[in-house]
Amino acid sequence: MCGVVGYIGSRQAAPTLLDGLKRLEYRGYDSAGLTIFNEEQEMRTVKCKGRIGALEEKIADHPLSGTIGIGHTRWATHGEPSDINSHPHTSPSGRISVVHNGIIENYQHLKAYLISKGYVFYTETDTEVIPHLIDFYYHGDLAEAVTQAASKMEGSYALGVMAREEPDKIVALRKDSPLVAGVSAEGNFIASDVSALLPYTRTVYYLHDNELAVIGASSIRFLSMEGESVAKEPVTITWSVDAAEKSGYEHFMLKEIHEQPKAIRDTLASRIMPGQPVAIEQINMSPEDIRAIQKIFIVACGTAYHAGVVGKTILEKMTGIPVETDIASEFRYRGPIIQENALLIVISQSGETADTLAALREGRKKGARTLAITNVMGSSVTREADSVFYTWAGPEIAVASTKAYVTQIIALLTIGLYFAQCKESMASEEIERIKSEMLLLPGKAEAVLAQKETLQKFAAETFNHRDMFYLGRGLDYAVAMEGSLKLKEISYIHTESYAGGELKHGTIALIEKGTVVIALATQKALREKMISNIKEVTTRGANVLGFTMGNAESGVWDGVANAMFYIPATEDLLAPILAVIPLQLFSYYVAVLRGCDVDRPRNLAKSVTVE
Ligand code: AGP
Repeated sequence: MCGVVGYIGSRQAAPTLLDGLKRLEYRGYDSAGLTIFNEEQEMRTVKCKGRIGALEEKIADHPLSGTIGIGHTRWATHGEPSDINSHPHTSPSGRISVVHNGIIENYQHLKAYLISKGYVFYTETDTEVIPHLIDFYYHGDLAEAVTQAASKMEGSYALGVMAREEPDKIVALRKDSPLVAGVSAEGNFIASDVSALLPYTRTVYYLHDNELAVIGASSIRFLSMEGESVAKEPVTITWSVDAAEKSGYEHFMLKEIHEQPKAIRDTLASRIMPGQPVAIEQINMSPEDIRAIQKIFIVACGTAYHAGVVGKTILEKMTGIPVETDIASEFRYRGPIIQENALLIVISQSGETADTLAALREGRKKGARTLAITNVMGSSVTREADSVFYTWAGPEIAVASTKAYVTQIIALLTIGLYFAQCKESMASEEIERIKSEMLLLPGKAEAVLAQKETLQKFAAETFNHRDMFYLGRGLDYAVAMEGSLKLKEISYIHTESYAGGELKHGTIALIEKGTVVIALATQKALREKMISNIKEVTTRGANVLGFTMGNAESGVWDGVANAMFYIPATEDLLAPILAVIPLQLFSYYVAVLRGCDVDRPRNLAKSVTVE
């Protein structure tokens, strides 16, 4: 996720754009840059690695004067944070400059084509193909060249584009990444979201997918991809700056829960494609290396550890390789036996967690090959691991991890399928069937989000309880652990997660009339056993919210629990991704009802860099 801004008008563009970028810094902050048309009608670009403050310092040394420009704050996906990989990106001729938020899935194919046409590439980014492609199609009409380039691009994009020959306009285009245009008496704007525009205007137009905006200092036109005019009504924004940063959601956590369909889609992009082999860039492992792996260790902390617990089942089922999942702070001190041909997978949203880093070093020291799954490009784990798998969830601001967790499971599924492909441990039809189901997950996650009323109602009935229990079997037990952590960290309610069959070995003594139990039963083979476990607690008076896959029609669930939540049907191995979403929402609603500081829970930090 990145932040895009553009301005054309009577103000100085550089300070206006820098101000807008600071308001978008929550969308990405590893590098930033501006392109400005100066008074001599030249396009000048200044960009650098680091926060907006670093860019401001660079601009102080190389002042940018002019009233038209585009700007960008980056959250790296393709190519580590560096000066050269920062946006704006420019065509080799220097006549096209582009800022981009999104992922160009077919960039390698486009890059090869453009190289064959004589274009030179300097960066590791997917974005660099965009200015080159626009340049390729440019014959004096920027809007037309952008349209033609877009017709060749697959993936998501919000673009701000300038052309040296047309210093009177910025062209903007969106597909699957947000973009707004703002109008004011002193000029017009584009931005990834309205928070960047609020000091200047509250009159905005929301672009829809495949709509172009051609923005002049005192004019704004909207076009379809066919070049036809699109009529749009302006919207007056009444939100505060704070609400705008959260796209109107009350908290970052709720916003990030709702970003999960996109985070899943982005993490799948260019890796899982119908009819094509699973692809992982930067895996740095030959098919022989993969076939030689005898044992996998997954090591992580907190929510990332819970993703690792799901990962154990996924990888064992897909690859037939035995997997051990460990809590990072325990791993080093238990003297793990790491024999030859072991792979150590560390999972860390931030890539900076001290215990996870220490476990990675321990594994390396003992001779394991290492693979890091992380959301932050250039973070410490990426520098120390042999291979890296980036989740493309975008920055996670709320302390409670949500979208990082689901993308970590997507990463583990993708790695599992990739290994299975090399080892031939799964039939190709089975791999294809799981891939097809994975591609349906974003839509199914949307369907889960749409059913929030059941969770709001159950939260309203139960938010003042002191204890709650989470039950599940198999993968549902792993999800129960994550649901339990989510509730306790943001609502301060004591929760415990139990394997459904284990409760009767002691903890069932705590179940009494009114005890709240969240019971997961998504796994088909374990459903009847789980129904029995639910009955064990309901007969002792528990108030049960049940989660299963499918719908109420079969009647199997009639009278089993006090309330039911149905997730859309999917493969059992994929169910955790859909099952965790209602648990996140339930925790959120309970915490809000209890008046807790949802985004900044007491005693917690987003990144735990001490042991
Ligand atoms: C979860 O909501 C927590 N914020 C926490 O458990 C977190 O997952 C853990 O500290 C690991 O962080 P990492 O993924 O950045 O390594």
